[in-house]
Amino acid sequence: MSEPRQHEQWGSNLGFVLATIGSAVGLGNIWRFAYVTGENGGAVFLLVYLAFVLVIGLPLMIAELSLGRTTRRDPVQAFGSLAPGGAWAHVGWVGVVAAVAILSFYSVIAGWALKYFVGAAGGTLWEAAGGGYGAYFDGFIAASGEPIVWQGLMLLLAALVVGGGVNQGIERASSWLMPMLAAIVLGLAVVALTLPGSAEGVAFLFRPDWSALAKPGLYIAALGQAFFSLGVGMAVFIAYGSYLSPTTRLPVGAATVALGDTTFAIVAGLAIFPAVFALGGDPAAGPQLAFITIPQILLETPGGRIVGPVFFFLLSAAALTSMVSLLDAASAVARHRLGWSRRRAATLVALAIFALGTPSALSYGVLAGVSLGGAPILDAVDAAASNVALPLAGLIVALFVGWRVPRLQAVSGAGLGRGTAGRVWLWLLRVPVPLAIALILLHSLGWL
Ligand code: PHE
Repeated sequence: MSEPRQHEQWGSNLGFVLATIGSAVGLGNIWRFAYVTGENGGAVFLLVYLAFVLVIGLPLMIAELSLGRTTRRDPVQAFGSLAPGGAWAHVGWVGVVAAVAILSFYSVIAGWALKYFVGAAGGTLWEAAGGGYGAYFDGFIAASGEPIVWQGLMLLLAALVVGGGVNQGIERASSWLMPMLAAIVLGLAVVALTLPGSAEGVAFLFRPDWSALAKPGLYIAALGQAFFSLGVGMAVFIAYGSYLSPTTRLPVGAATVALGDTTFAIVAGLAIFPAVFALGGDPAAGPQLAFITIPQILLETPGGRIVGPVFFFLLSAAALTSMVSLLDAASAVARHRLGWSRRRAATLVALAIFALGTPSALSYGVLAGVSLGGAPILDAVDAAASNVALPLAGLIVALFVGWRVPRLQAVSGAGLGRGTAGRVWLWLLRVPVPLAIALILLHSLGWL
């Protein structure tokens, strides 16, 4: 089948904003935000993170969306069509590779969430807890086979949505899921905040311990989290930007998405930390927070068996809309280069990612003996993608839009005009954004 002549377009601004928030809100806001904040001491981390979202994440998001909208090409051609020939024509691959790498392990964790949702709804999750959830979780991820099945199911769902098209698939799924997820996370926060002893959790999230500012690790973690949670550096916003109409007010849309994403993470933090503190869990429990600590809390709390399925539905559905955006960006390249239909590209790319992700799915089971740079496969892919590929792709976008695209074209493409906002945006992209990313990149590579 050949590429439809008409490039697809969002049905409405609201549809675009909801789909893009759907992309941004995901495991990063719930599973990752909670444990990274927990590990980095809470409130101070939150402040640095917010500063990075505003000064680095938002300008980059605007740049990516505008690259997509201006060129209406896939995330690789977007660069080449503005700077034909030469190296710029190929740099877009960094973001696409990052998207594929992220999706390969993200789908595994999304599969864990789906398994817990099904178990919590059907009751097996509560019956199985004899030896505690540490043993339960270890048994599940170590039991070869099962994680692959759940990972495959999540990828199948994502392929169905992406294959359905921009309007009938992506926009439709986000338009009913995102308002529902917002209501769920608010409801969970209200429940958690009424638990006796919850105040400590709130204090953890909001009362800063300034001494943490002296730790360089904090900045790396905060930038990594800002990139991951917003979803910049992964080609996604170039693809989603290409469906934007020329009249949409792009900076307003991007700011809404950044605000929505951050608010969502904070509210999710307000659902998680008060419960963790009230019930004596460890906020710095690491990646297992959502899969060991939380089920334990749910099991021990009255009403936990009702809240449980709701929480894991939230986690699975939030992960799904993010997977949709990653799969859409990765398959856009296949659609444009190979002339594949949407359905075909979504299915085949999802299959390829399924295969690529299998080692991650097995990395705590039959492949537990294999380590990459001292970490299990899944953790190593996560670290390489989140701490290296994403910042690198972000750096490329900043340098390209900041320095390579003619100034006026860049500013008007973003819908910012000649005023102060446009000047500030371009300056941020030219100097502070690349500098901050470069410093942190060098540090996380151990060169600084
Ligand atoms: N931002 C998503 C999250 O917070 C993950 C994601 C990354 C989605 C990159 C799309 C692109 O979970």
